[in-house]
Amino acid sequence: MRAEACSRQQWLLAQVDRKKKAPSVIPYERSSAYAWRNVKRIIADEMADGGARDLIELGAGRHPFFKREEVPAGVATYTLNDIDPQELELAPADYDKAVFDVCGELDRYEGRFDFAFSRMLAEHVPDGRIFHRNVCRMLRPGGRAFHFMPILYSPPFVINRLLPEALAEKLLLMIVPYRTRDRFPKFPARYSRCRAKSKRLLAMYREVGFADVDIEVFFGNDYFNNIPVLNKLDALLSEIAYRRDFEHLAAYAFVRARKALARTP
Ligand SMILES: C[S@@+](CC[C@H](N)C(=O)[O-])C[C@H]1O[C@@H](n2cnc3c(N)ncnc32)[C@H](O)[C@@H]1O
Repeated sequence: MRAEACSRQQWLLAQVDRKKKAPSVIPYERSSAYAWRNVKRIIADEMADGGARDLIELGAGRHPFFKREEVPAGVATYTLNDIDPQELELAPADYDKAVFDVCGELDRYEGRFDFAFSRMLAEHVPDGRIFHRNVCRMLRPGGRAFHFMPILYSPPFVINRLLPEALAEKLLLMIVPYRTRDRFPKFPARYSRCRAKSKRLLAMYREVGFADVDIEVFFGNDYFNNIPVLNKLDALLSEIAYRRDFEHLAAYAFVRARKALARTP
C-alpha cells in the first residue's frame, strides 16, 4: 500500500492521466481535479475583476501561491500571513510577511486589504465563524475574499476529523507519496464551517459582514488511489452524490464572499 515517493507535481499529473483512462460521470468542471488545476487562474481573475491593489494570502505557509512574476498587474502589495513564524521564514524573502492568528486579535490589519485569499487554511482554524469575521474586518468595504478548502462530509476528511492526529498523519504519509514531514507537513484539521452551501452557513457569512456569498463545490478526491477497493467505493459515492446533486458529499469548495459597501448616511 505504501506509495513511491514523488513530487506533488508528478503526483497530480499522474492522477490526471489515471482519470483520463477511467472516465467518471462527474464532468471535469465539477471535479476536484478541475478545482486544483484551475484555482490559481480563477483567483487571479477574481483579483483582476475586483481591481485588487492590496492582497493578503492567509495561512500561506512556506509556499506562496503566486510567484512574484505571476502576481496580476495592478497589485501594489502582496502580504503573506501565517500563524507560524517558522513556516513564513521558509517562504522566499522578497514578500511582505505578517505573523498572526487569523482567529486572534488583528486590530492593526483592520480595513487594510481589498482581496484576502487562502488555500487549505480554513479547515485548520479553531473557529470558522471568528475566522470569517476577522477576514471581513481585514477587508475594505466592497473587498473580496476567496477560500479554497476541503469540506465535510467527504469520507477522507471525515476520517481525518475523527482520527487522533498522530494516526491521521501516519496514514496520510503512507498513502500520499508527495506528503513528507519536511516538505509538505500535515497540520491538524478541525473543518469548522467547512461545509457545502446551506441556509445556515450563508447566514453566518452575512452576519459577520459579507454582502454576497457563493459556495461552489467539487466532487471526488485522490486520497484512496493506492487502496483500490476503497478507492472504487469512494469514487462510486462521489458519482452518486454528483448525480443526486448532494453537495454535502463533495470534497472541496471555493468560497467567494464580498464585503458590504460602506453605507452612505
Ligand atoms: C495545510 S497548510 C497550507 C499552506 C499553503 N496555503 C498551501 O496551500 O500550501 C496550512 C497553513 O495554515 C497555517 N495556519 C494554521 N492555523 C492558522 C491560523 N489560525 N492563522 C494563520 N495561519 C494558520 C499553518 O501554519 C500552515 O502553514
